[in-house]
Amino acid sequence: MSNILAGKKGIVFGALDNQSIAWKVAERCVQEGAQIVLTNAPVAMRMGEINNLAEVCNAPVIPADATSIEDLENLVKQSLEHFGGKFDFVLHSIGMSVNVRKGKAYTDLNYEWMQKTFDVSAISFHKLMQTLWKLDAISDWGSIVALTYIAAQRVFPDYSEMAESKALLESFARSFGYHLGTAKRVRVNTISQSPTMTTAGKGIKGFQEFYDYADKMSPLGNAPAEDCANYCVALFSDLTRFVTMQNLFHDGGFSTMGMNPALVATPE
Ligand SMILES: NC(=O)c1ccc[n+]([C@@H]2O[C@H](COP(=O)([O-])OP(=O)(O)OC[C@H]3O[C@@H](n4cnc5c(N)ncnc54)[C@H](O)[C@@H]3O)[C@@H](O)[C@H]2O)c1
Repeated sequence: MSNILAGKKGIVFGALDNQSIAWKVAERCVQEGAQIVLTNAPVAMRMGEINNLAEVCNAPVIPADATSIEDLENLVKQSLEHFGGKFDFVLHSIGMSVNVRKGKAYTDLNYEWMQKTFDVSAISFHKLMQTLWKLDAISDWGSIVALTYIAAQRVFPDYSEMAESKALLESFARSFGYHLGTAKRVRVNTISQSPTMTTAGKGIKGFQEFYDYADKMSPLGNAPAEDCANYCVALFSDLTRFVTMQNLFHDGGFSTMGMNPALVATPE
């Protein structure tokens, strides 16, 4: 460990169980010397697993539904109090599609459910940044990261309305990145991660096939969650102070490939 987050403080959203990408990020941040606050939706707390992580990370758990401004304000105010002032980084690691969960086809979507999907998976990111902005909670040269997927740019039919959620999420990162950069010298980026075996990932139909396909297409193979955590740590550190408003692919090279012979059957 190089202790590159020594003295840094931050909030980590979205650690549901030990497969969650946010779980690995929380562990890595603390290993690198950061102090953190953990948060998740009150309903996700019922599983209780986050308390094990809280113990390892010596971190308080403050529940917040990321679609509720009231919850977000409470979370940010309590975090400011806990840290004794402003903090340096935030990870948004939240995604959920109601239509995918209920098995609705993309050509037969329920629009109320779609609104809920967008609210949880994308608008929550704007709500979070607006709350941080209004409460002036992030230190100069702070860093905000959200996790996304390449379905925002390319078609992955089974990803359904999550594709549009991610497109919206990435756009919020750019637009709010302008305001936070100009006024507060805070950077905002999205990391576009390889398919990863987590609760959210496995909720997508045919995920195993999809995972294997991406693994073969990528020259380096799928990027593991632990490496995504390392990338988050790099983006929270002072080594990336001028990286902002970017969608950064962390995918073993998948996004740049056209065809990989490894996926094509060799003729006899
Ligand atoms: N797993 C993959 O293949 C993959 C690939 C690229 C990007 N991502 C993204 O990574 C992020 C984390 O997902 P994961 O794969 O670790 O799965 P996960 O299921 O472990 O995490 C999703 C989290 O979202 C939280 N959440 C849902 N609704 C919420 C709400 N209203 N308020 C607060 N939190 C809420 C859940 O409780 C859970 O902790 C998501 O944005 C996901 O889209 C995942």
